[in-house]
Amino acid sequence: MQSLQQKASEWSGVDQTDAFAIDEINLFEKLGKQTFINLSTHFYNRVYDDEQEWFRSIFANSSKEDAIQNQYEFFIQRMGGPPLYSERKGHPALIGRHRPFPVTHEAAERWLQHMQQALDSTADIDSDSKTKMMNFFRHTAFFLVAGNEMKNPNQGVPPPCKHATSKTSTN
Ligand code: HEM
Repeated sequence: MQSLQQKASEWSGVDQTDAFAIDEINLFEKLGKQTFINLSTHFYNRVYDDEQEWFRSIFANSSKEDAIQNQYEFFIQRMGGPPLYSERKGHPALIGRHRPFPVTHEAAERWLQHMQQALDSTADIDSDSKTKMMNFFRHTAFFLVAGNEMKNPNQGVPPPCKHATSKTSTN
């Protein structure tokens, strides 16, 4: 059976070396805290204003301010900065924390579109840092999709009809 990491690479098209190239340099030292705050603010401004209700509604139970803080603290911690996220909330456990949400292939693509646009509209992020971050985001997004499918392994297969019996007609 394929591991979640293997599925993430296959579905995202990003191999593990590229996904974790964020660890080759200290992006937190390079970009600084304010850039991460700006990035997450731009990202969630887009998400909470998304014209597509199906995507916007995934975030309906979180306040935008909390979502921004959760995200930039996680990014800072993961990209070489102080462990702000874990000090406040414990282990990131991303698959577990995304369990309540429908993290489908479509949701991952939409999340990534918003993140690409947020990166492009945030000042002071050079193109090498953008590429490294997008590879990490893309791989992680599909890692979460793989985790989401584990919670419901029959996703995509119609559920069996509760009332079906051998006598049930097919029309
Ligand atoms: C694939 C599509 C994704 C969807 C639909 C999604 C959805 C969500 C939602 C609805 C929340 C709750 C907002 C909050 O209260 O913080 C959340 C939180 C979070 N997401 Fe995602 N997410 C996705 C991808 C990602 C990726 C790629 C990362 C990391 C690179 C990530 C990292 C986080 C973190 C750190 C939190 C805060 C968790 C917490 O503290 O409870 N997410 N996400």
